[in-house]
Amino acid sequence: MEKILVFAAIKMNLEERIKHQPLPRHIAIIMDGNGRWAKGRGKLRVFGHENGTKAVRTAVETCVKLGIEHLTLYAFSTENWNRPKLEVKTLMRLLISSLKKEIDTLQKNNIRLQALGDISSMPPKVFQELTQVMEATKSNSTMTLNLALNYGSRDELTHCMREIAQKIKKNIISIEKIDETVINEHLYSRNLPDVDLLIRTSGEQRISNFLLWQIAYAELYFTDVFWPDFTDQHLYEAIANYQKRERRFGKTSEQLN
Ligand code: IPE
Ligand code: IPE
Ligand code: MG
Repeated sequence: MEKILVFAAIKMNLEERIKHQPLPRHIAIIMDGNGRWAKGRGKLRVFGHENGTKAVRTAVETCVKLGIEHLTLYAFSTENWNRPKLEVKTLMRLLISSLKKEIDTLQKNNIRLQALGDISSMPPKVFQELTQVMEATKSNSTMTLNLALNYGSRDELTHCMREIAQKIKKNIISIEKIDETVINEHLYSRNLPDVDLLIRTSGEQRISNFLLWQIAYAELYFTDVFWPDFTDQHLYEAIANYQKRERRFGKTSEQLN
């Protein structure tokens, strides 16, 4: 009993502590390690994905509670199509059922759902469900939850360049007018600020084609925890770690003080 109380006190402390310091406006997470989590339990990879959806719920609720403005989750990459057919199918099924199940939670918490990625070439059922939920939540304003689906940063940049080139061809914009703002406006993430904190679970320390442009000055945080085990406490630890960093954006420490 005493142990539980001590644990609860530590937990509360961390949550309280991070609330009193500047929070990241935009958190992005590479949710990795579902397969290894399942394998370690002698189960199939899909069991890991099923349990990963619970961690998604926790992360979303925790971010809302903290007042984070934007949360971007890497759910399916352009490279993930290369996985076994059955795994891809299960991921799509889980996505549809999660969207159906979580719509009420999104509404209750005033969360706007957005998708990053080429969703028009996803299976029609996924596309339909997604567009329905995005439409239903488009006026919500407490937090934006951005699901990166069929997302690849190189695909995003290619798409961006094509759109800009088309506009130049049609004389809608001139080459001289292209700047970082114009590029930002043609990315899938067009209405989002830069990522402040990028978290990757499962011990891998790579970016895997995620938000290459948007993480230019993000603080990177890697943890060995597999995604299905990622709790609110782990998120608080990541944020506490972020708050200890000095973000210099090219300046010197002295200039900041
Ligand atoms: C992340 O977990 C989920 C997706 C990429 C869809 P993984 O499925 O990549 O799990 P590991 O990395 O194989 O353990
Ligand atoms: C990145 O994880 C994609 C998602 C989390 C959706 P992967 O597990 O696919 O990444 P790599 O291929 O091992 O780098
Ligand atoms: Mg992986």
